[in-house]
Amino acid sequence: MLVIHTISELQKELKQRRQANQSIALVPTMGNLHPGHLQLVSTAQQHAETVIVTIFVNPTQFSAHEDLDSYPRTFKDDCQKLESLNTDILFAPSIDEIYPLGGENTSHVHVPNITEVLCGASRPGHFDGVTTIVCKLFNICQADVAVFGEKDFQQLAVIRRMVDDLNIPIRIIGEPIVREADGLAMSSRNGYLSEEERIVAPRLHQILQNIKQLILTRNTDFKAIESQAKKDLLEAGFKPDYLHIYQLNELKPATQHNKELIIVAAAFLGSTRLIDNVYVNRI
Ligand code: PAJ
Repeated sequence: MLVIHTISELQKELKQRRQANQSIALVPTMGNLHPGHLQLVSTAQQHAETVIVTIFVNPTQFSAHEDLDSYPRTFKDDCQKLESLNTDILFAPSIDEIYPLGGENTSHVHVPNITEVLCGASRPGHFDGVTTIVCKLFNICQADVAVFGEKDFQQLAVIRRMVDDLNIPIRIIGEPIVREADGLAMSSRNGYLSEEERIVAPRLHQILQNIKQLILTRNTDFKAIESQAKKDLLEAGFKPDYLHIYQLNELKPATQHNKELIIVAAAFLGSTRLIDNVYVNRI
């Protein structure tokens, strides 16, 4: 595996590979890799001859009170995991390499509307940071495909919208959520959980699964289902941020007529913010 830290070196390497007619896949991450990330790499390998994984803890998507400083950085372990998967290139730039003028003085990409709800409402500016870094990585790598996890459902929708709106020539692939045996969606932030919190954490997924069962048994009072589920979260020890039954293809509340739904939730367990989602097909 080639480990590259500068844009110029990466572009030199990619030029050669493109001249040799290799297709290129990109997997952007912030490191602290777990099996969820590694699944994205395996999928990328099925779609291209060269796979680039990026590790960059992007400061512009964290707000001042968030966990940028404490975000887990495990570069050596990450390298070993990627190496054992036969990853072709690991791109791990410094902050200066990506934002030589500083994050605030850099042009940014803003996707309107769908960034204003859910995680966008509770984390103002977060998605501008995400779309800016992802757009920069797309331009730097000029990959044919990029793979993102459905765990960050809204992030995936926002990136797809950016690619459509700005005619970015890349194909976006969504990868299903990889979970622990007890249902907890894998996440770098799970490492923040205390032993007691870790026992409670899978309740989030169970509560979303309960909602799915209710919907499949033709319960259509979505508002009542949502407010009962928020009570269940509180009782389990979470502080709910949001919980909604949405239309799959629009980030809007579901109506009785929508067949494909997504149940989305974010909740704090102690100071750790967990997100999850469950797909429902009523056909
Ligand atoms: P990060 O949280 O490191 O996640 C990197 C990619 O892994 C994202 O596409 C995310 O959806 C996916 N992922 C994380 N946990 C997953 C799981 N349990 N199952 C499947 N996929 C999972 O998301 C980011 O980083 C950043 O916002 C980034 C896109 C890299 C921009 O900075």
